[in-house]
Amino acid sequence: MHCTIKISEDLFWVGGNDRRLALFENIFPIPRGVSYNSYVLLDQKTVLLDTTDYSISRQFMENLRHTLGERGLDYLIINHMEPDHAALISDISAIYPNVKLVVNAKTLQILKQFFPEQDFEKNCLVVKEGDVLDTGRHKLSFIMAPMVHWPEVMMTYDSADKTLFSADAFGTFGALNGNIFNDEINFDRDWLDDCRRYYANIVGKFGAQVQAVLRKAAELEIKTICPLHGPIWRSDIAYLLEKYGKWSSYTPEDNGVVIIYGSMYGNTESAANALAGKLSEAGVRNIAVYDVSSVHVSQLISEIFRCKCIVIASPTYNGGIYPPMLNLLHDMKALGVQGRSAAIIENCSWGAVGSKKISELLSEMKNMKVITEPLVIKSTLQISQESLLNDITAKITEELI
Ligand code: FEO
Repeated sequence: MHCTIKISEDLFWVGGNDRRLALFENIFPIPRGVSYNSYVLLDQKTVLLDTTDYSISRQFMENLRHTLGERGLDYLIINHMEPDHAALISDISAIYPNVKLVVNAKTLQILKQFFPEQDFEKNCLVVKEGDVLDTGRHKLSFIMAPMVHWPEVMMTYDSADKTLFSADAFGTFGALNGNIFNDEINFDRDWLDDCRRYYANIVGKFGAQVQAVLRKAAELEIKTICPLHGPIWRSDIAYLLEKYGKWSSYTPEDNGVVIIYGSMYGNTESAANALAGKLSEAGVRNIAVYDVSSVHVSQLISEIFRCKCIVIASPTYNGGIYPPMLNLLHDMKALGVQGRSAAIIENCSWGAVGSKKISELLSEMKNMKVITEPLVIKSTLQISQESLLNDITAKITEELI
Protein backbone atom coordinates (compact mmCIF):
# COMPACT_ATOMS: atom_id res chain seq x y z
CA MET A 1 0.00 0.00 0.00
CA HIS A 2 1.29 3.44 -0.84
CA CYS A 3 1.90 5.93 1.98
CA THR A 4 2.18 9.44 0.65
CA ILE A 5 1.31 12.75 2.29
CA LYS A 6 0.23 15.94 0.57
CA ILE A 7 2.36 18.91 1.56
CA SER A 8 0.73 21.51 -0.67
CA GLU A 9 -1.47 21.65 -3.75
CA ASP A 10 1.10 19.90 -5.93
CA LEU A 11 3.90 18.75 -3.61
CA PHE A 12 3.90 15.31 -2.02
CA TRP A 13 6.04 13.45 0.51
CA VAL A 14 6.83 10.05 -0.99
CA GLY A 15 9.52 8.90 1.44
CA GLY A 16 9.50 6.15 4.01
CA ASN A 17 10.81 4.93 7.33
CA ASP A 18 13.29 2.33 8.44
CA ARG A 19 12.59 1.02 11.94
CA ARG A 20 14.76 -2.07 11.53
CA LEU A 21 18.14 -0.45 11.07
CA ALA A 22 20.08 -0.52 14.35
CA LEU A 23 22.97 1.78 13.39
CA PHE A 24 22.73 4.70 10.98
CA GLU A 25 25.89 4.77 8.85
CA ASN A 26 26.66 1.57 10.78
CA ILE A 27 27.77 3.84 13.63
CA PHE A 28 24.89 5.72 15.26
CA PRO A 29 22.19 3.91 17.27
CA ILE A 30 18.72 4.86 16.07
CA PRO A 31 16.25 3.20 18.45
CA ARG A 32 13.50 5.42 17.04
CA GLY A 33 14.39 4.55 13.45
CA VAL A 34 14.97 7.06 10.68
CA SER A 35 12.99 8.52 7.82
CA TYR A 36 14.26 8.95 4.30
CA ASN A 37 12.31 11.82 2.83
CA SER A 38 11.70 12.21 -0.86
CA TYR A 39 9.39 14.64 -2.60
CA VAL A 40 7.40 14.77 -5.83
CA LEU A 41 6.31 18.00 -7.46
CA LEU A 42 3.46 17.67 -9.96
CA ASP A 43 3.80 20.79 -12.07
CA GLN A 44 3.63 21.06 -15.88
CA LYS A 45 6.79 19.01 -15.55
CA THR A 46 7.08 16.31 -12.92
CA VAL A 47 9.97 16.47 -10.49
CA LEU A 48 11.35 14.02 -7.95
CA LEU A 49 13.63 15.52 -5.32
CA ASP A 50 16.10 12.83 -4.20
CA THR A 51 15.40 9.13 -3.89
CA THR A 52 15.83 7.05 -0.72
CA ASP A 53 17.90 4.35 0.88
CA TYR A 54 17.70 0.91 -0.72
CA SER A 55 16.17 -0.55 2.45
CA ILE A 56 12.81 1.11 1.79
CA SER A 57 12.87 0.82 -1.99
CA ARG A 58 9.63 -1.16 -2.26
CA GLN A 59 7.66 1.41 -0.28
CA PHE A 60 9.28 4.31 -2.08
CA MET A 61 8.61 2.91 -5.55
CA GLU A 62 5.00 2.27 -4.65
CA ASN A 63 4.68 5.82 -3.37
CA LEU A 64 6.27 7.26 -6.46
CA ARG A 65 4.15 5.25 -8.89
CA HIS A 66 0.97 6.15 -7.03
CA THR A 67 1.83 9.85 -6.98
CA LEU A 68 2.83 10.09 -10.62
CA GLY A 69 -0.13 8.01 -11.77
CA GLU A 70 -0.12 7.90 -15.54
CA ARG A 71 2.47 10.63 -15.81
CA GLY A 72 6.13 10.08 -16.52
CA LEU A 73 9.01 11.62 -14.61
CA ASP A 74 10.73 14.62 -16.21
CA TYR A 75 13.36 15.52 -13.61
CA LEU A 76 15.17 13.91 -10.71
CA ILE A 77 16.94 16.59 -8.70
CA ILE A 78 19.87 15.08 -6.81
CA ASN A 79 20.55 17.33 -3.86
CA HIS A 80 22.76 14.78 -2.12
CA MET A 81 24.66 11.74 -3.38
CA GLU A 82 25.02 9.83 -0.10
CA PRO A 83 23.42 6.39 -0.64
CA ASP A 84 20.74 6.91 2.02
CA HIS A 85 19.19 9.26 -0.56
CA ALA A 86 20.81 8.29 -3.83
CA ALA A 87 20.65 4.50 -3.80
CA LEU A 88 17.74 4.33 -6.23
CA ILE A 89 18.95 6.69 -8.95
CA SER A 90 19.82 3.78 -11.18
CA ASP A 91 16.40 2.15 -10.67
CA ILE A 92 14.60 5.42 -11.37
CA SER A 93 16.60 5.90 -14.56
CA ALA A 94 15.71 2.39 -15.66
CA ILE A 95 11.99 2.84 -15.02
CA TYR A 96 11.87 6.39 -16.44
CA PRO A 97 14.53 6.35 -19.18
CA ASN A 98 13.76 9.91 -20.28
CA VAL A 99 14.26 11.43 -16.84
CA LYS A 100 16.79 14.26 -16.65
CA LEU A 101 19.10 14.07 -13.65
CA VAL A 102 19.61 17.56 -12.26
CA VAL A 103 23.09 17.67 -10.76
CA ASN A 104 26.00 20.00 -10.17
CA ALA A 105 29.50 19.27 -11.43
CA LYS A 106 30.61 17.65 -8.17
CA THR A 107 27.46 15.53 -8.02
CA LEU A 108 28.19 14.25 -11.50
CA GLN A 109 31.65 13.15 -10.43
CA ILE A 110 30.33 11.28 -7.38
CA LEU A 111 27.44 9.85 -9.42
CA LYS A 112 29.96 8.26 -11.77
CA GLN A 113 31.90 6.87 -8.80
CA PHE A 114 28.85 5.18 -7.29
CA PHE A 115 27.47 3.92 -10.60
CA PRO A 116 30.58 3.23 -12.71
CA GLU A 117 28.72 0.87 -15.02
CA GLN A 118 26.21 3.42 -16.18
CA ASP A 119 26.43 6.34 -18.56
CA PHE A 120 24.25 8.90 -16.85
CA GLU A 121 26.06 11.90 -18.27
CA LYS A 122 23.96 12.17 -21.42
CA ASN A 123 20.84 12.43 -19.24
CA CYS A 124 22.25 15.01 -16.84
CA LEU A 125 21.34 18.65 -16.60
CA VAL A 126 24.31 20.25 -14.86
CA VAL A 127 23.39 23.30 -12.78
CA LYS A 128 25.31 25.78 -10.68
CA GLU A 129 24.55 28.28 -7.95
CA GLY A 130 21.58 30.45 -8.84
CA ASP A 131 20.48 28.54 -11.93
CA VAL A 132 16.71 28.23 -12.26
CA LEU A 133 14.71 25.25 -13.46
CA ASP A 134 11.29 26.34 -14.73
CA THR A 135 8.76 23.53 -14.32
CA GLY A 136 5.63 25.58 -15.02
CA ARG A 137 4.20 27.31 -11.96
CA HIS A 138 7.33 26.56 -9.98
CA LYS A 139 10.75 28.08 -10.48
CA LEU A 140 13.40 25.98 -8.76
CA SER A 141 16.75 27.57 -8.02
CA PHE A 142 19.85 25.85 -6.73
CA ILE A 143 21.94 26.78 -3.72
CA MET A 144 25.29 25.09 -3.34
CA ALA A 145 25.87 23.83 0.20
CA PRO A 146 29.26 22.11 0.08
CA MET A 147 30.13 19.98 3.14
CA VAL A 148 26.62 20.11 4.54
CA HIS A 149 27.27 17.19 4.62
CA TRP A 150 29.25 16.10 1.54
CA PRO A 151 31.04 18.33 -0.98
CA GLU A 152 28.39 18.00 -3.70
CA VAL A 153 25.41 18.91 -1.52
CA MET A 154 23.03 21.48 -2.85
CA MET A 155 19.65 22.76 -1.79
CA THR A 156 16.71 23.55 -4.03
CA TYR A 157 14.51 26.58 -3.44
CA ASP A 158 11.04 26.90 -4.89
CA SER A 159 10.28 30.59 -5.17
CA ALA A 160 6.60 29.98 -6.00
CA ASP A 161 5.72 28.36 -2.67
CA LYS A 162 8.80 29.54 -0.70
CA THR A 163 9.91 25.99 -0.01
CA LEU A 164 13.49 25.04 0.74
CA PHE A 165 14.54 21.47 0.05
CA SER A 166 17.43 21.47 2.45
CA ALA A 167 19.14 18.09 1.93
CA ASP A 168 20.58 16.77 5.22
CA ALA A 169 20.39 20.17 6.89
CA PHE A 170 17.56 20.52 9.42
CA GLY A 171 17.17 16.75 9.49
CA THR A 172 16.94 14.45 12.47
CA PHE A 173 17.09 10.81 13.47
CA GLY A 174 13.73 9.23 14.19
CA ALA A 175 11.08 7.62 12.00
CA LEU A 176 8.02 9.70 11.11
CA ASN A 177 4.89 8.34 12.70
CA GLY A 178 2.23 9.68 10.35
CA ASN A 179 2.61 13.22 11.64
CA ILE A 180 5.22 14.52 9.26
CA PHE A 181 4.85 18.24 10.01
CA ASN A 182 6.53 20.02 12.88
CA ASP A 183 3.24 21.54 14.03
CA GLU A 184 1.75 18.07 14.50
CA ILE A 185 4.40 16.88 16.97
CA ASN A 186 5.97 17.98 20.23
CA PHE A 187 9.39 18.72 18.79
CA ASP A 188 11.02 19.99 21.97
CA ARG A 189 9.90 16.98 23.96
CA ASP A 190 10.23 14.19 21.40
CA TRP A 191 12.65 15.29 18.68
CA LEU A 192 15.08 17.96 19.78
CA ASP A 193 17.61 15.58 21.36
CA ASP A 194 17.72 13.42 18.25
CA CYS A 195 17.89 16.50 16.02
CA ARG A 196 20.87 17.82 17.97
CA ARG A 197 22.53 14.39 18.00
CA TYR A 198 22.04 14.13 14.26
CA TYR A 199 23.45 17.62 13.66
CA ALA A 200 26.42 17.30 16.01
CA ASN A 201 27.54 13.93 14.72
CA ILE A 202 26.70 14.18 11.03
CA VAL A 203 27.33 17.83 10.24
CA GLY A 204 28.96 19.07 13.44
CA LYS A 205 32.42 19.29 11.97
CA PHE A 206 31.23 21.68 9.27
CA GLY A 207 30.01 24.63 11.33
CA ALA A 208 31.58 27.24 9.04
CA GLN A 209 29.92 25.71 5.98
CA VAL A 210 26.56 25.55 7.77
CA GLN A 211 26.95 29.21 8.73
CA ALA A 212 27.61 30.06 5.07
CA VAL A 213 24.38 28.33 4.03
CA LEU A 214 22.46 30.01 6.84
CA ARG A 215 23.60 33.36 5.47
CA LYS A 216 22.24 32.40 2.05
CA ALA A 217 18.99 31.18 3.64
CA ALA A 218 18.60 34.50 5.45
CA GLU A 219 18.13 36.17 2.06
CA LEU A 220 15.22 33.88 1.17
CA GLU A 221 11.62 33.99 2.25
CA ILE A 222 11.09 30.48 3.59
CA LYS A 223 7.66 29.15 4.48
CA THR A 224 8.45 25.44 4.38
CA ILE A 225 11.64 23.44 4.95
CA CYS A 226 11.71 19.94 3.49
CA PRO A 227 14.77 18.06 4.81
CA LEU A 228 15.87 14.58 3.82
CA HIS A 229 15.30 13.17 7.32
CA GLY A 230 12.68 13.93 9.95
CA PRO A 231 9.80 16.37 10.16
CA ILE A 232 8.89 18.97 7.54
CA TRP A 233 8.83 22.49 8.92
CA ARG A 234 5.92 24.74 8.01
CA SER A 235 5.92 26.97 11.08
CA ASP A 236 8.46 28.15 13.68
CA ILE A 237 11.16 28.33 11.04
CA ALA A 238 12.95 30.91 13.20
CA TYR A 239 13.18 28.39 16.06
CA LEU A 240 14.95 25.89 13.83
CA LEU A 241 17.24 28.51 12.32
CA GLU A 242 18.15 29.67 15.82
CA LYS A 243 19.10 26.13 16.86
CA TYR A 244 21.25 25.75 13.76
CA GLY A 245 22.77 29.16 14.37
CA LYS A 246 23.88 28.04 17.83
CA TRP A 247 25.07 24.57 16.90
CA SER A 248 26.99 25.74 13.85
CA SER A 249 28.75 28.49 15.80
CA TYR A 250 29.49 26.04 18.65
CA THR A 251 27.52 28.27 21.01
CA PRO A 252 26.22 26.32 24.02
CA GLU A 253 22.50 25.85 23.79
CA ASP A 254 22.02 26.22 27.52
CA ASN A 255 23.85 26.86 30.76
CA GLY A 256 24.29 23.21 31.56
CA VAL A 257 27.13 21.03 32.75
CA VAL A 258 27.75 17.54 31.48
CA ILE A 259 29.88 15.26 33.64
CA ILE A 260 31.23 12.31 31.69
CA TYR A 261 33.05 9.68 33.67
CA GLY A 262 34.85 6.44 32.98
CA SER A 263 34.94 4.05 35.89
CA MET A 264 36.21 0.49 36.21
CA TYR A 265 35.22 -0.23 39.81
CA GLY A 266 32.94 2.65 40.73
CA ASN A 267 35.46 4.99 42.35
CA THR A 268 35.60 7.58 39.57
CA GLU A 269 31.84 7.28 39.24
CA SER A 270 31.56 8.07 42.94
CA ALA A 271 33.64 11.23 42.48
CA ALA A 272 31.45 12.26 39.53
CA ASN A 273 28.31 11.78 41.59
CA ALA A 274 29.82 13.71 44.51
CA LEU A 275 30.58 16.61 42.16
CA ALA A 276 27.06 16.52 40.70
CA GLY A 277 25.59 16.66 44.22
CA LYS A 278 27.77 19.59 45.22
CA LEU A 279 26.87 21.45 42.02
CA SER A 280 23.21 20.95 42.81
CA GLU A 281 23.72 22.25 46.35
CA ALA A 282 25.46 25.27 44.82
CA GLY A 283 22.36 26.01 42.77
CA VAL A 284 23.26 24.54 39.38
CA ARG A 285 20.09 23.08 37.91
CA ASN A 286 21.12 21.70 34.56
CA ILE A 287 23.41 18.77 35.37
CA ALA A 288 23.81 15.63 33.28
CA VAL A 289 26.01 12.68 34.31
CA TYR A 290 26.99 9.93 31.88
CA ASP A 291 29.08 6.77 31.97
CA VAL A 292 31.36 6.91 28.94
CA SER A 293 31.37 3.11 28.76
CA SER A 294 27.62 2.67 28.50
CA VAL A 295 26.34 5.75 26.70
CA HIS A 296 27.00 5.95 23.00
CA VAL A 297 29.58 8.51 22.03
CA SER A 298 27.11 10.22 19.67
CA GLN A 299 24.87 11.00 22.65
CA LEU A 300 27.83 12.38 24.60
CA ILE A 301 28.84 14.57 21.67
CA SER A 302 25.29 15.85 21.45
CA GLU A 303 25.30 16.74 25.15
CA ILE A 304 28.64 18.51 24.77
CA PHE A 305 27.12 20.59 21.95
CA ARG A 306 24.26 21.45 24.32
CA CYS A 307 26.17 22.31 27.48
CA LYS A 308 28.46 25.18 28.38
CA CYS A 309 30.64 23.19 30.81
CA ILE A 310 32.07 19.72 30.53
CA VAL A 311 33.76 17.62 33.17
CA ILE A 312 35.94 14.75 32.04
CA ALA A 313 36.49 12.23 34.86
CA SER A 314 38.72 9.42 33.76
CA PRO A 315 40.99 6.70 35.08
CA THR A 316 44.54 6.51 33.84
CA TYR A 317 44.90 3.36 31.78
CA ASN A 318 47.95 1.79 30.16
CA GLY A 319 49.90 4.93 30.95
CA GLY A 320 47.35 7.03 29.10
CA ILE A 321 43.65 7.83 28.94
CA TYR A 322 40.93 5.23 29.59
CA PRO A 323 40.13 3.98 26.05
CA PRO A 324 36.40 4.87 25.88
CA MET A 325 37.26 8.37 27.12
CA LEU A 326 40.08 8.65 24.62
CA ASN A 327 37.61 7.71 21.90
CA LEU A 328 35.27 10.48 23.06
CA LEU A 329 38.08 13.05 23.11
CA HIS A 330 39.17 12.06 19.61
CA ASP A 331 35.58 12.33 18.40
CA MET A 332 35.23 15.78 20.01
CA LYS A 333 38.30 16.94 18.12
CA ALA A 334 37.18 15.36 14.85
CA LEU A 335 33.78 17.03 15.10
CA GLY A 336 35.24 20.45 15.79
CA VAL A 337 33.95 20.79 19.35
CA GLN A 338 35.12 24.14 20.66
CA GLY A 339 34.46 26.99 23.03
CA ARG A 340 33.59 25.01 26.15
CA SER A 341 34.70 25.38 29.75
CA ALA A 342 36.21 22.17 31.02
CA ALA A 343 37.31 20.55 34.26
CA ILE A 344 39.26 17.33 34.65
CA ILE A 345 39.21 14.62 37.28
CA GLU A 346 41.85 11.93 36.98
CA ASN A 347 41.83 8.69 38.91
CA CYS A 348 45.03 6.71 39.14
CA SER A 349 46.46 4.34 41.68
CA TRP A 350 49.95 5.18 40.48
CA GLY A 351 51.53 7.20 37.67
CA ALA A 352 49.26 10.23 37.24
CA VAL A 353 49.56 11.05 33.53
CA GLY A 354 45.94 10.96 32.35
CA SER A 355 44.99 14.53 33.23
CA LYS A 356 48.03 15.90 31.40
CA LYS A 357 47.09 13.93 28.30
CA ILE A 358 43.45 15.01 28.54
CA SER A 359 44.58 18.65 28.86
CA GLU A 360 46.76 18.25 25.80
CA LEU A 361 43.90 16.84 23.76
CA LEU A 362 41.55 19.61 24.91
CA SER A 363 44.17 22.20 23.98
CA GLU A 364 44.12 20.85 20.42
CA MET A 365 40.47 21.97 20.17
CA LYS A 366 39.63 25.62 19.58
CA ASN A 367 38.86 27.92 22.51
CA MET A 368 38.61 25.22 25.13
CA LYS A 369 39.10 26.72 28.57
CA VAL A 370 40.26 24.41 31.36
CA ILE A 371 38.90 26.29 34.36
CA THR A 372 40.68 24.57 37.26
CA GLU A 373 43.66 22.49 38.09
CA PRO A 374 42.85 18.80 37.58
CA LEU A 375 41.59 16.97 40.61
CA VAL A 376 43.79 13.90 40.92
CA ILE A 377 42.36 10.98 42.87
CA LYS A 378 44.50 8.14 44.11
CA SER A 379 42.26 5.08 43.74
CA THR A 380 39.28 6.74 45.40
CA LEU A 381 38.28 10.25 46.37
CA GLN A 382 39.44 10.87 49.95
CA ILE A 383 37.47 12.91 52.45
CA SER A 384 40.63 14.99 52.84
CA GLN A 385 40.17 16.05 49.18
CA GLU A 386 36.70 17.47 49.68
CA SER A 387 38.05 21.02 49.61
CA LEU A 388 39.44 20.34 46.11
CA LEU A 389 36.04 19.10 45.03
CA ASN A 390 34.55 22.27 46.50
CA ASP A 391 37.03 24.31 44.46
CA ILE A 392 35.94 22.63 41.22
CA THR A 393 32.30 23.09 42.20
CA ALA A 394 32.90 26.79 42.80
CA LYS A 395 34.65 27.28 39.45
CA ILE A 396 31.93 25.49 37.49
CA THR A 397 29.20 27.33 39.36
CA GLU A 398 30.94 30.62 38.57
CA GLU A 399 30.83 29.72 34.87
CA LEU A 400 27.16 28.79 34.91
CA ILE A 401 25.46 31.14 37.34
FE1 FEO B 1 21.25 11.63 4.96
FE2 FEO B 1 24.45 12.80 4.21
O1 FEO B 1 22.92 11.69 4.09
